[in-house]
Amino acid sequence: MDVYEAVASRRAVRGFADRPVPRETLERALAAAAWAPSGSNLQPWHAYVVTGGPLAGIKKRVGERLASGEPWDEAEYEMYPAALKSPYRERRSAFGEQRYGALGIGREDWEARQRAAAANWDCFGAPAALFCYLDRDMGRPQWSDVGMYLQTVMLLLRAEGLHSCPQMSWAKFHGTVAEVLSPPGELVLFCGMSIGFEDVAAGEARTGRAPLDETVTFVDGL
Ligand SMILES: Cc1cc2nc3c(=O)[nH]c(=O)nc-3n(C[C@H](O)[C@H](O)[C@H](O)COP(=O)(O)O)c2cc1C
Repeated sequence: MDVYEAVASRRAVRGFADRPVPRETLERALAAAAWAPSGSNLQPWHAYVVTGGPLAGIKKRVGERLASGEPWDEAEYEMYPAALKSPYRERRSAFGEQRYGALGIGREDWEARQRAAAANWDCFGAPAALFCYLDRDMGRPQWSDVGMYLQTVMLLLRAEGLHSCPQMSWAKFHGTVAEVLSPPGELVLFCGMSIGFEDVAAGEARTGRAPLDETVTFVDGL
């Protein structure tokens, strides 16, 4: 698979097959992803790859918390600016409409949206997950490094025939994830990532993108 194909076929998959992912495959992809770039080669990512009983334990504990109506954990970082301005606000609502519209959930049906969102914490049925941490005192450039690392992981997973879904929603339950993974206290959970083989029957529409000239400016030489 060439890079263009890996990029074009990667998407946030939200329906995985009940088919285990071999440990060697995950190791191969994660070993290759270590070559992702980072400022001064800090490699600020700390990835926990979780399968089997430990992943089932995390899903179960979060499921129990959801069922009991317990609130989310205190946020350790802001996921989005409080007042999202244009054009980001419109892009977010277009995404919400597409995602929840495909499930037959109306714009104002907050409860149904929350129920659908709960599938995040079952990893959409995926048999493997990656929880990505970084040190609490790292700055914006290092968070960006972690993003590059995660995209590298996702593209390599495509090369292995696997799909993924990056999920900040896991940060809402960072305490429960930590109960199982016991990361050092100085780490903060940026996101989880569901990993597995796609359940093709689940089928979801491809998201769109802004036209190139909205996000890229070419400044040509004379
Ligand atoms: C950092 C990050 C966090 C995300 N968190 C979630 C999430 O919690 N749940 C989810 O279903 N999708 C999540 N997504 C997936 C985005 O919704 C998705 O990437 C975006 O809508 C574009 O769609 P595509 O990835 O299918 O092209 C996240 C993506 C990124 C990069």
